[in-house]
Amino acid sequence: MSEFSYKQIYKKYLEFFKDNGHTIIPSSPLVPENDPSVLFVNAGMFPLIPFLQGQKHPQGKRLVNIQRCIRTGDIDEVGDDYHCTAFIMLGNWSLNDYFKKEAINYTVQFFVEKLGLDINKIYASVFQGDENIPADEVSINVWKEIFAKYNIEAKVGKDEKIQQFGKKENWWGLESGGPCGPDSEIFYDTGKEKCSEECNISCNCGKYVEIGNNVFMEYFKQGNSVLPLGRHNVDFGGGLERIVALLQNVENVYDIDIYKPILQKVKELGKTDNEKSERIIVDHIKAATWIIMDGVQPSRSQQGYILRRLIRRAIRHGKKLGIEREFTREIADICITQFKDIWTNLEQQKEEILKTIEEEERKFNRTLEQGLRELEKRIKREEEINGKDAFLLYETYGLPLEVTEEILEEKNIKLQSRDLFFQAEKEHQEKSRTTSQGMFKAGLTDTSEMSTKYHTASHLLLAALRRVLGDHVYQKGSNITPERLRFDFPNETKLSPEQVKEVENLVNEQIKKKLEVSFEEVDKKKALELVPFAAFTEKYGDIVKLYYIGPKENPFSIEICNGPHVENIEKLGNFKIQKQENVGAGVKRIKAILE
Ligand code: ALA
Repeated sequence: MSEFSYKQIYKKYLEFFKDNGHTIIPSSPLVPENDPSVLFVNAGMFPLIPFLQGQKHPQGKRLVNIQRCIRTGDIDEVGDDYHCTAFIMLGNWSLNDYFKKEAINYTVQFFVEKLGLDINKIYASVFQGDENIPADEVSINVWKEIFAKYNIEAKVGKDEKIQQFGKKENWWGLESGGPCGPDSEIFYDTGKEKCSEECNISCNCGKYVEIGNNVFMEYFKQGNSVLPLGRHNVDFGGGLERIVALLQNVENVYDIDIYKPILQKVKELGKTDNEKSERIIVDHIKAATWIIMDGVQPSRSQQGYILRRLIRRAIRHGKKLGIEREFTREIADICITQFKDIWTNLEQQKEEILKTIEEEERKFNRTLEQGLRELEKRIKREEEINGKDAFLLYETYGLPLEVTEEILEEKNIKLQSRDLFFQAEKEHQEKSRTTSQGMFKAGLTDTSEMSTKYHTASHLLLAALRRVLGDHVYQKGSNITPERLRFDFPNETKLSPEQVKEVENLVNEQIKKKLEVSFEEVDKKKALELVPFAAFTEKYGDIVKLYYIGPKENPFSIEICNGPHVENIEKLGNFKIQKQENVGAGVKRIKAILE
């Protein structure tokens, strides 16, 4: 097998699909715009949901990209051979264009002909059907034809080239609903021993690695019902890191070319070897650089909390490795060097990213010191210290169990009921899993009527703020639920009561004028001339949508945006600013409702 680099492999992917009529679209930022239902983009399809549902994509019906993703649900798995919290997903899409035959053929052609994977080691899974949806016979036949081309007679069944599974393995969609359908995954046999008699391609033991997944999105999940979508989309996703590991003939993703120098540095700094801790540091600090690049700062809630947790977890594992001095900046620096050609903003924001991580490390170290003092106090008072206390010290101050034990050991004190630590930890994990599941649940770009109205209202608000406060105002962040809109913008001070009234009146006057909302597709350069204050331009392709509120010659608002919007703003009702907040230096937040 040829040894391509990480960068060569994704470039080959983009090139191959471009040669087959796909337009390369940029990666979206990690924080979904206008969607409070997930904290981070977790699959390449996520930013494309409106288009999978039928909205016309300005770049056409065949798209391809590499999308940076964060899967926090996998955080406990990080450290094994294949899981990462931050990774790149290769993605190609057919928006109601080609379907199963072409999709599977493209996938195999890319892996076998372009990358040189051995067809003899490739296996496929397909949906076996259930009481509502038939078995995917079409995909079975496509796979048979493909294998036949390579003179392989493929059969369906256990241990065969084509294996059938139920919904758990071969159905894909966001938990909350939206476009979904049966999928066909492609696996590669690493040549390892089977872990048991039952071992098959869906087993997690590492013998078979899933390298890609074609989802045939012809259904739509709403609540508990699955309905026909009326469109036949393809959503392909493949984890770049795994594919590279296979091609570079290494056993885990941390040994691939792009991560190697980061891992090397961690090993250099560590005093003891601990594979899992080393990998966690590489993964988490890399994730932190990407997340900060996309505008998140460590904080107590939402994305900021995840970022904080990633940085602090990396630091704790640093302590496990015996790293005593500050180290995250050095690691982050290498992460940036490794990825700066892929995410160019990393280089542009390098200093800010490094500073943020370094400051978080200092903050955390101070907290840890408080934890140490607390422990000392208890030792002095000769209190018994058990596993549950150790967990509380860990939870409140981040003091790792091993550190607590070491300190006690030095004083010849034994930690009582050590097991209680793990019991408390498990209880805590259950609790936080439930919370984060709640947060990740919806997962669907909210296109409800109310959210659509709030989306249009955000445009009116920005236009009004620029008229009242000045041209320095732009959209720094926005978040919409069916209950309200939230809008962040740069300004030194909050709005005075008079300014609040003025903005509200301006918006409500437009609503009374019953202005129409319209859009046109123009090239990005032209759009940026018309809307120089546009935010988030990075995620749009070369052709963008310009949304106008009011007549095109003299609109009240003009913005680059993907929609959706109401057709006429008369439907919005009465606009009211409910609350103002400070969010970071020079940034203000407005929460507003439609009554
Ligand atoms: N969206 C599909 C996945 O994540 C391709 O597996």
